[in-house]
Amino acid sequence: MSTSPYITETVTDITHWNETLFSFRTTRNQGFRFLNGQFVMMGLEVEGKPLTRAYSIASANHEDFLEFFSIKVQDGKLTSRLQHLQVGDLVYVSRKPTGTLVLRDLKPGKRLFLFATGTGLAPFMSLVHDPEMYEQFEQIILLHGVRWKSELAYKDYLEQTLPAHEFLGEEVREKLIYYPAVTRESFIHHGRLTALVQSGELFKHIGQEPLNPETDRAMICGSPAMLEDISHMLNNYGFHMSPRQGEMGDYVIERAFVEK
Ligand code: A2P
Repeated sequence: MSTSPYITETVTDITHWNETLFSFRTTRNQGFRFLNGQFVMMGLEVEGKPLTRAYSIASANHEDFLEFFSIKVQDGKLTSRLQHLQVGDLVYVSRKPTGTLVLRDLKPGKRLFLFATGTGLAPFMSLVHDPEMYEQFEQIILLHGVRWKSELAYKDYLEQTLPAHEFLGEEVREKLIYYPAVTRESFIHHGRLTALVQSGELFKHIGQEPLNPETDRAMICGSPAMLEDISHMLNNYGFHMSPRQGEMGDYVIERAFVEK
C-alpha cells in the first residue's frame, strides 16, 4: 500500500482581505518540514479526489501552523471552492515542499530586494519571519505591487504588527523596509515596481542607493510577465540569476502560481 502524497490539515483561521483575496491558517503536522520561501501542492477533496495547486507557504517554518494566501476566482476550479473554507474544514497539503525562493541560493550580499506582485507576496511573508534573513542581510526591501489599494494584504501587519514582534521586532525595525505600490488608483507609491525602480523614485522614497549587483540580491515572485520584466531589468543592471536550484546567484525567481 502506498502512502498518500498528501497530509490533511484542519483550517483554524480565515481572513478575507477583499472580494478577490483571502488568507487562511491550518494545523501543521509535526513531521512536516520546509524552507522559508518554498511551496507545496495544496487543495481540497473534490468528487472523491484531491484537487490541488501550487501554493507558497506564507508562514515561517518555526511556526506551529501553516498559512496560505489565495485569490478567489468565481469560476476557478479550486479557488471557487477554497474561498468558502470554514474553520474546521480539511485541506490537503503535499508532503514534499519545493521551490527556488530560498536564501541558500543567493550569494552573500548587503541588501536584499523582495519583489512581489499580487499573491506573489506569500513566500516573502514566510521569509520576513526568518531570523537567518536578518542575519545575512543588512537591509531588506520588500516591494509589493498591486492594482488596487484593497489588494495590499498584510499591509497593517507589515507596518504595525511585525515591527512590534516579540523576537523579531528589533531586527525588523532596523532592517526591513516595506514598500507597497498601487497601479490603478492614487496612492503614495504609484506605478509598477519596474517603473518605480527605473525612474529612481523608489530609491528617493526610501533614501537608499540605486540597484548595485555588487551588494544587492533579489527574489522575485509574481505573474510570468512581471517575472520576465523584473529579471530583464536586473539583468540590465548586471545581476545574474541563479541558474538552477542549489546553485547560487544574485537573484532567484518563482511564479505566483494559482490563477484559478
Ligand atoms: P498594472 O495594473 O499596470 O497591470 P496582476 O494582478 O495582473 O498580476 O498585477 C498585479 C500588479 O502587478 C499590478 O499592479 C500590475 O500593474 C503589476 N504588473 C503587471 N505586469 C507587470 C510587469 N510585467 N511588471 C511589473 N509589474 C507588473
